[in-house]
Amino acid sequence: MNKGLFITFEGGEGAGKSTQIKLLADKLEAQGRHVVLTHEPGGTPGAYLIRENLVKGEGAQWDKETETLLFFAARRDHIVKKIRPALEQGAVVLCDRFADSTMAYQGYGRGRNDALIDMIRHLYRLVAGDLQPHTTFILDIDPALGLRRSCARKGNNETRFENMDIAFHQNLRAGFLEIARNDPGRCVVIDANRSVAEIHQDIWDKMQERRIC
Ligand code: TMP
Repeated sequence: MNKGLFITFEGGEGAGKSTQIKLLADKLEAQGRHVVLTHEPGGTPGAYLIRENLVKGEGAQWDKETETLLFFAARRDHIVKKIRPALEQGAVVLCDRFADSTMAYQGYGRGRNDALIDMIRHLYRLVAGDLQPHTTFILDIDPALGLRRSCARKGNNETRFENMDIAFHQNLRAGFLEIARNDPGRCVVIDANRSVAEIHQDIWDKMQERRIC
C-alpha cells in the first residue's frame, strides 16, 4: 500500500491547471506536507525525451495507436522513477495531467474511438498496475475561452494539440466529463470559467470535504 497521496489535475487547454496546482502545493507545504509537483508528459529525463516529440510540430507523424503508446511509454518511466518512489516516501504527489488526458485527447479528441478506449484501459493496467489517483480534479472550461488563454500564454512551440480545430477541443471536453461521470468517487469537476481565486477556493473546499487536508 502507498503511504502517500496521489492527486491529479486534468482538463483541456488553458483551464489553469498549472496555476492551480502551484497554489495548492504552496498551501499544502505551508501545512508541513511533503509535496512533489510533477506533470505529464514529462517528470523524468526519459519522459521528457518522449515529450519533445509528442508536443511539437503539426502532428500526424504517427497513427493514433502509436501516439497512445508513446504517451504510455513516457508515463511508465514517470511512474517507476518518480511517482511510486515519492508515494512510498509518504509524499503528496500533485500531477498536472495523467492517464485521463490520454483517454480524453487520444480516446475522444478525434471523435469517440471505442477500440482505442479499450486499448488505453488495457495499457493502463500494464503500465500503472494498481496505481490510481486518490482524487482527480477535472478543470472544466469552455474550449473557446481556454484556447484564448493558452495561446496568449504559451511562448514556446509546444502547440501541436492547441492547433487542433475547435471540434477536437469540444470532443475532449466531453470526454473529460464522461470520465468524471464514470468515476464519481475519484473525479471532481471544477468550473474553471472563473477567477483564479474562486477556482482555488473551490479546490481547497473539496480537499477539506474529502479530508485530504
Ligand atoms: P501540457 O501542455 O499540459 O504540458 O500537455 C502537453 C500536451 O499533450 C497537451 O496539449 C495535452 C497533450 N496530452 C495528450 O494528448 N495525451 C496525454 O496523455 C497527455 C499527458 C498530454
